[in-house]
Amino acid sequence: MSQDFHPKRAQLENLGFRFVHFSEIDSTNSEALRRARKGERQGLVIYADFQSQGRGRRGRSWKAKPYSSLLVSVLLEPKISREEQGLLPIITGLAGAEAIFNLTDFKPGIIWPNDLWGKKGKLGGVLVEGIFQGEVFKAVLGLGINLNQNREDFPEEFRERASSIRIETGKNLSRDELLFEFIARLFFWKTQLEQGKIESIVEQYADYDIIKDKEVRIFFQGNTIKARAKGIDEKGRLKIEREGKEELISAGEIIMLRSEEDAFGD
Ligand code: BTN
Repeated sequence: MSQDFHPKRAQLENLGFRFVHFSEIDSTNSEALRRARKGERQGLVIYADFQSQGRGRRGRSWKAKPYSSLLVSVLLEPKISREEQGLLPIITGLAGAEAIFNLTDFKPGIIWPNDLWGKKGKLGGVLVEGIFQGEVFKAVLGLGINLNQNREDFPEEFRERASSIRIETGKNLSRDELLFEFIARLFFWKTQLEQGKIESIVEQYADYDIIKDKEVRIFFQGNTIKARAKGIDEKGRLKIEREGKEELISAGEIIMLRSEEDAFGD
């Protein structure tokens, strides 16, 4: 038996997933995009022990100490409409949250669109990037999850707001177990999406949505607005209620809840 043998990995390989590991890379998303541009097809999984130029949303960087985190990017070619592409970041965050919950007794929350939160801070995030090659739409779904960090392992500017599985549960979670579970859940949701089972995505997302019915502040089109979050619609947009009216937000960022603690309250 190869040293690398893992039953879940073997099952995923049978479905067409190909795992490529780096001890160090600039960014797993960048590597997956480079390979996609050179003709690599769906199923490629790039994961790394360390990223020297990890990227977050909105041009921010994503820093993680070597061996502390799950850092992974998956290349998929989902057969979906342009309108449904907004659900890709949603299913990636959902798959990450479910994978954590399935392997620990801890259920993380999701803050729209796809930030993963514990009770003590942000646990992880998602960066989705897409390209067209001729007719083929290729999406790189990147996920970073903090696994084994203690508070002092985070850069000082994030220390107050960052958390890890170890901080939340007192236990270490195996990076590879989490990787395989994440890919399995992602494959499940990608298939649901291709089959048009949007309602089941919206419903399952609601189960992890910790801002639903909460007052939130949203950075949107250069302004900060205050509104009540009402879950997501069938395109992954955030439904909000403001001054008695329902609105939809497709690109925005929740910048603050009344307090982080509240997100987990009733
Ligand atoms: C965010 O919350 O801003 C998103 C963070 C996404 C980080 C992951 S780590 C693996 C993948 N490679 C990257 O460079 N970024 C994503």
